[in-house]
Amino acid sequence: MIIIASENGRVGIVEAMHVLRCGGSALDAVETGIRLVEDNAEDETVGVGGLPNLLGVVQLDASIMDGRTRACGAVGAVRDYAHPITIARRVMEELPHVFLVGEGAERFAAEIGAERRQLLTEKAAETWRKRMLEAMSVAELERLGEDPHLRRWVGVTMDPRLAGGTVNFIAQDAEGNIACGVSTSGWAWKYPGRLGDSPVIGAGNYADNRYGAAACTGLGEMTIRAGTARSVVLYMQMGMDVEEACCQAMKDLQELRPGGGIDIIALDRHGRPAAVSNEKVGGTYVVMTDEMDTYEERPRTLVPPLVGKG
Ligand code: GLY
Repeated sequence: MIIIASENGRVGIVEAMHVLRCGGSALDAVETGIRLVEDNAEDETVGVGGLPNLLGVVQLDASIMDGRTRACGAVGAVRDYAHPITIARRVMEELPHVFLVGEGAERFAAEIGAERRQLLTEKAAETWRKRMLEAMSVAELERLGEDPHLRRWVGVTMDPRLAGGTVNFIAQDAEGNIACGVSTSGWAWKYPGRLGDSPVIGAGNYADNRYGAAACTGLGEMTIRAGTARSVVLYMQMGMDVEEACCQAMKDLQELRPGGGIDIIALDRHGRPAAVSNEKVGGTYVVMTDEMDTYEERPRTLVPPLVGKG
């Protein structure tokens, strides 16, 4: 049994392994680990404490995929609920659909009794206000909700460092089943309703017991264009090992302009992990097997962008 996660998955990986040790499934472990990250108010990229959109509203996205059946569920632009990963799992299990967004996702969350939460923390609200006032006047900020040209502020306020934080979890249980989950508050100061790759199956998340699974963090606008998570799994299907598959998917992204920061984690069907980054020198991910007392932080392989192209 093994679980891997993006580095911010530290807060959930030990408990997720406990779930596997107690006989839980890979899906249970992924959901448990991600819920703990969603509860971590210190993480500005996931769940409560996540940075809000341009209008100061936190909108969450998440997806989960079962590698045994390729069943999946996803939600996007969900407000006021603590655990989008759980709502995504219930979409997968209770509806003949894969993807719910906005009001429909919130209505479904209410129907299943999902936990409501005030997602915008004082700290995140203060960070948002400070950033907005670097770009606009107090009067403009006060009228932002009615601004007929809201789109002009996306480029002005954008901070690439805050564009793509997210959490990834991949688990393989005692039966060899693989599951993959992703959750995020998305691009800080995004246009309302913007979805990144986290809830887009094939872009930010993909799992197939027969080959393995992959998940992404970083600028979702890139991995949606390249179908990155599905590509990693397909490269494994074509015979590449897990590290080669991640590097090849990263090379596909190198062709895209404008580019952006992307990290990938992946696990093959034999439980071998890999992780790559295109810009984080010293970037890490976390790994825990059932034989370990706690997780290990391992380096990501750096696959830097091509220089002088575009
Ligand atoms: N990777 C997260 C996002 O783009 O929203």
